Amino acid sequence: MTEGPRATDSLAARVGELLERAEDGVLPIVRAGDPVLRRRALPYRGDLDPGLRNELVAAMFRTMHAAPGVGLAAPQIGLPLALAVIEDTGATDPAVADARDRRPCPPMILANPTYEPVGTDVAAFYEGCLSIPGWLAVRRRWRTVRLRAQTPEGTPIDEVLHGWPARIVQHETDHLAGELYLDRAEPRSLAHESLAGRWAGPAHPTAAAEALGFDLINP
Ligand code: NI
Repeated sequence: MTEGPRATDSLAARVGELLERAEDGVLPIVRAGDPVLRRRALPYRGDLDPGLRNELVAAMFRTMHAAPGVGLAAPQIGLPLALAVIEDTGATDPAVADARDRRPCPPMILANPTYEPVGTDVAAFYEGCLSIPGWLAVRRRWRTVRLRAQTPEGTPIDEVLHGWPARIVQHETDHLAGELYLDRAEPRSLAHESLAGRWAGPAHPTAAAEALGFDLINP
C-alpha cells in the first residue's frame, strides 16, 4: 500500500502541536496499546526545517533524560517518524558495567536507523521500555551490531556497536518498525520493577531463569 504524497506541512503542524503540549520542555510518553507504537514509522527525509527539527530533538532528549531512559523513539511521543535519540552514561557499578558491557554511549540522533548482527553472539538480559512502565523482561539480543543511519542533516552514520549500546540501538530501531521488546522477550521472565532488585541484577539472569522457569540459551 502506498502512503501517497508526503504532507510535509501537516508534519510540521503536528510537531508544532506536540511541542506545545510539553511541560517544562518534557513531552508525554505514549504507552503500549497506542497504535502509533505498532506502525512502521515513516522515513525521515529532512521533512522538517532545521529550527523545528532541533526543537523536536531537544524535546526528545529532555523527555528521555526526565524519564529517565537511555533511548527514545519518535513514535513514543506520538510521532510516526523514523527518528530516535540515544544516550547512556554507562553503569556506575563496575561489576554491572562488566557483566552487561554497559559502557557510556554518547548522545546520538538517529534518522532511519537499521542494524545487522556482527557475528552470532547473543546476550540475554533484563530490559525495559518507557512505553511499558513498571515492567522488565529478559530479551535476547545480538551482542554486536552494525548500525547504519543518518544524522538529521543527512550525514551517513555507519558504526559497529557492542554490548549495551548495541542493545539500545536494537531496542529503538525495533520501535520504528512497530515492535516492542516484549514481542520477543521471554514471557516467563516478566517481572514487576518492584522485583528488579531480585532478578534484574548485574549478572546474567540465571537465577531468574531457574526460579521463574524459562530457558536461558547462550546467556
Ligand atoms: Ni522502548
